Amino acid sequence: MAEILVVYHSQTGNTKKLASAVVSGVEETGNAHAVLKHASCVTAQDIKGCDAIVICSPEYFGYMAGAVKDLFDRTYEELKDDAAIYKKPYCVVISAGNDGTFALSHIERICKGYRFKKIQHPIICKGLITEDILTKCVDLGMTIAEGINAGIF
Ligand SMILES: Cc1cc2nc3c(=O)[nH]c(=O)nc-3n(C[C@H](O)[C@H](O)[C@H](O)COP(=O)(O)O)c2cc1C
Repeated sequence: MAEILVVYHSQTGNTKKLASAVVSGVEETGNAHAVLKHASCVTAQDIKGCDAIVICSPEYFGYMAGAVKDLFDRTYEELKDDAAIYKKPYCVVISAGNDGTFALSHIERICKGYRFKKIQHPIICKGLITEDILTKCVDLGMTIAEGINAGIF
């Protein structure tokens, strides 16, 4: 069964709600398994072993959360030349007060360095977490799971 790694950091719970909604979408398909992990617990092996990775970060000071940056810092050297991560499918979910584009662009820039493959448009949630945005995250999880299983990604 395909395994989708959903990585997040969250202080007040907003990003975790989005990440959990992605997880429910994956699980809802019944043919993929989602693993929800705080960024500080994610290892290079986790990234190598999954079929796709969803990176969920709040925007802090026009950047990704420090824990998400730390994950990249800790794993880049080990993974950068590893064939197992070449074109690894990924997408990004951001929770922000009023922007989110800076965190997104920094994450996407780093993902290019890893040679990951972007498989879906990012979701940026500005302000309160609404039912509408949670539905988008569920749909994202379903789309990723189905696309991986169908070999589209
Ligand atoms: C230290 C800090 C810095 C922040 N910087 C930004 C920012 O640069 N741009 C923005 O749109 N929101 C900013 N925010 C708002 C957060 O992105 C927003 O509240 C987000 O939903 C927090 O997610 P979390 O609950 O998962 O931590 C900041 C919040 C904090 C606590």
